[in-house]
Amino acid sequence: MKIKIILLLLVQVLARKRSNYIKAASNFTSLGYKCGFSVEEIDVQTEDGYILKMFHIEGDKRRPVLLLHGIVDSADTFILRGQNSLAATLAREGYDVWAANTRGSTYSRRHVTLEPSDKRFWEFTFHEVGYYDLPAFINHILKVNGVKKLSAVAHSQGNTNFYVLGATRPEYNEKVRVLTSLGPVCFLTYVPTVFELMIQSRIVINEVLLAFDEEEIFSPSLRKFIRYWCTETVMRVRICRDIFFELAGKDEQEFEEEFVPVVLNHYPTATSRRNIMHLAQISEKTRFSQYDFGRAQNLKVYNAVSAPEYDLGKVTMPVALFVGKNDKLTSAKDVRLLLNSLPNIVEYRQMSRDQFNHIDHVWGRNMDAYLFPHVLKVLKKVL
Ligand SMILES: *[C@@H]1O[C@H](CO)[C@@H](O)[C@H](O)[C@H]1NC(C)=O
Repeated sequence: MKIKIILLLLVQVLARKRSNYIKAASNFTSLGYKCGFSVEEIDVQTEDGYILKMFHIEGDKRRPVLLLHGIVDSADTFILRGQNSLAATLAREGYDVWAANTRGSTYSRRHVTLEPSDKRFWEFTFHEVGYYDLPAFINHILKVNGVKKLSAVAHSQGNTNFYVLGATRPEYNEKVRVLTSLGPVCFLTYVPTVFELMIQSRIVINEVLLAFDEEEIFSPSLRKFIRYWCTETVMRVRICRDIFFELAGKDEQEFEEEFVPVVLNHYPTATSRRNIMHLAQISEKTRFSQYDFGRAQNLKVYNAVSAPEYDLGKVTMPVALFVGKNDKLTSAKDVRLLLNSLPNIVEYRQMSRDQFNHIDHVWGRNMDAYLFPHVLKVLKKVL
């Protein structure tokens, strides 16, 4: 028994040979400053009372670009690679850059009456983000710039938000000059095994979370633990990177070990239990539809027994789809479904790099070579 304990302690001590990976925490403003830009921090309020933060790098007012992050991410994602990140690249090109933070994520955890410790704060899915958060961001930008349209670049679930907006508030289609969809998430019929397992056990997961009264996924304490665990030793960094690869597709060159701790200082951020369940429903039902509350509540909310499908035919904003061949989350088959549903696709680009995965769109080491030129081309396109 004693020997066992000593061995365990020894393993712990050896494991403590640190990886030197932990860097001081920084935010969008300080990262932008390091790149030579001054960043403005702006709060906007949604119709349903959430107070959300946008980061703004001033440029040509006639050319605003709104950047929207994916699930459990934040605006930081667009500046993490420093000079070689999308926000810095667009700013250098003279665009007026706005990086938004959706409800529940690091910088957007305020509400006029609710605290994040209140369950009701977490009663949302990607639907409310599209329906309330996006109009708040868009209206603010158009107003201060005095223009009628903006361009947008969204990653992953950020695109789901835009499709919801276009389908449920069609008047906003007119306000988007072009949406560049990086690794779009919409249909989730063909998903990686890990996600599949999650969907299969979703009832259990849901019950456990409800039993523990957890409405917030990736609460601050859990995030701290993940960050600590994943960056303690080189071995663990590798394990955690492999988890990313399992979900997003493997690309060791573009997501190097040294960069994993940098990402973990900013990712994941929080989301709601309901959001995860909504995504699981989309996958299980193989339909892009609104949140299913169950029969009785559906009748109250939707005046129908089942949750209505989003009408993607109404998403008339111009959309450019960028997809990686090695992206497990945005699978080729699901993109095919999206291609057949969106009425105004102005470009469909399969990235030429074979290993291009889901996260290379935001964290790839050489995005300047294989991604940004194409994004800039879309933004310059005469539509
Ligand atoms: C970002 O960091 C700077 C410098 O540490 C600080 O002044 C600022 O308040 C921070 N902003 C946010 C939104 O956290």
